Amino acid sequence: MEQQIQELRERANDAIKNSASTLKELDEVRVKFLGKKGELTALLRGMNQLTADERPKVGKLVNEARAEIEQLIAEKNSELKAKELETKLASEKIDVTLPGRKVHAGHLHPLTLTLNRVKEIFISMGYTVEEGPEVETDYYNFEALNLPKDHPARDMQDSFYITEDILLRTQTSPVQARTMQSHEPNTPIRMIAPGRVYRRDDYDASHSPMFTQVEGLVIDKGISFADLKGTLEDFSKKIFGEKTKIRLRPSFFPFTEPSTEIDVSCVMCHGEGCKVCQGSGWLEILGAGMVHPNVLKMSGYNPEEVSGFAFGMGIERIAMLTYGLDDMRLLYDNDVRFLNQF
Ligand code: PHE
Repeated sequence: MEQQIQELRERANDAIKNSASTLKELDEVRVKFLGKKGELTALLRGMNQLTADERPKVGKLVNEARAEIEQLIAEKNSELKAKELETKLASEKIDVTLPGRKVHAGHLHPLTLTLNRVKEIFISMGYTVEEGPEVETDYYNFEALNLPKDHPARDMQDSFYITEDILLRTQTSPVQARTMQSHEPNTPIRMIAPGRVYRRDDYDASHSPMFTQVEGLVIDKGISFADLKGTLEDFSKKIFGEKTKIRLRPSFFPFTEPSTEIDVSCVMCHGEGCKVCQGSGWLEILGAGMVHPNVLKMSGYNPEEVSGFAFGMGIERIAMLTYGLDDMRLLYDNDVRFLNQF
């Protein structure tokens, strides 16, 4: 019996130490040795075959064995629990030092930036910002601007016709007539009208069939050519720098009389003459003039009472000059290597 107990202790010891590698296995070992139907219980049951003086001795040994096995199981139990926690922690680990995924923030297109700058300047001078449709009627695009159907100046602005009378506007000037007509006759106007325009132009370094214009119109009592010149000189200095000079050349537009083209001193060489200004020292930036009496009349304004000036500029041109671009197509290609630079 004593030998049996000793042998059971050794087996239990070995099972706990060497074969129970999970909590579940350890519990199986516990049941096997200490459970109600376990080996130690079986040994206790066999004690009734012992003599009275053997019993206490063996009883003591059995109790010692039980205590020892319980102790070992408890130790192994906490060991396995710690191990399980460790693997759980390791498998659920997150590395908070991993760098985050970068969000690529976009930004405004250089054309939009230029347009915003132009708008800001005129808004600061008290101008309103008006809009007109890109799909326009022949009446507003030409007729109301003193360009009757057979007028040869229409050829300069050959366009995309949708029907005989509807076309993609060739200029933002139709917004002049639309704005006058939306006011009571002779109401003073000080507005700009930015927007896209379309012409049947080839696509090369300085032409595109679609481009952006900003129209300007000022009407009030006693507006003179000096107002036109002063306003556009002020604008040129604000957009190209304080040292900028302007030069007026006589020109022709059917809707202004007299008409002028305005040049600014070259933004690259400041008038010395370089590649950009083709040696002249000057760059053309806009067309302008005093609103033709016929244009005022057709939209209900009385040229005997009020007068005005108008101007129109290409925003691509201004963007190219302020950013020093040599090809207009850069503005439409959407190449991020280019756009990233703004
Ligand atoms: N609309 C003209 C053009 O596109 C520019 C212009 C506008 C000229 C207003 C005079 C007055 O060329």
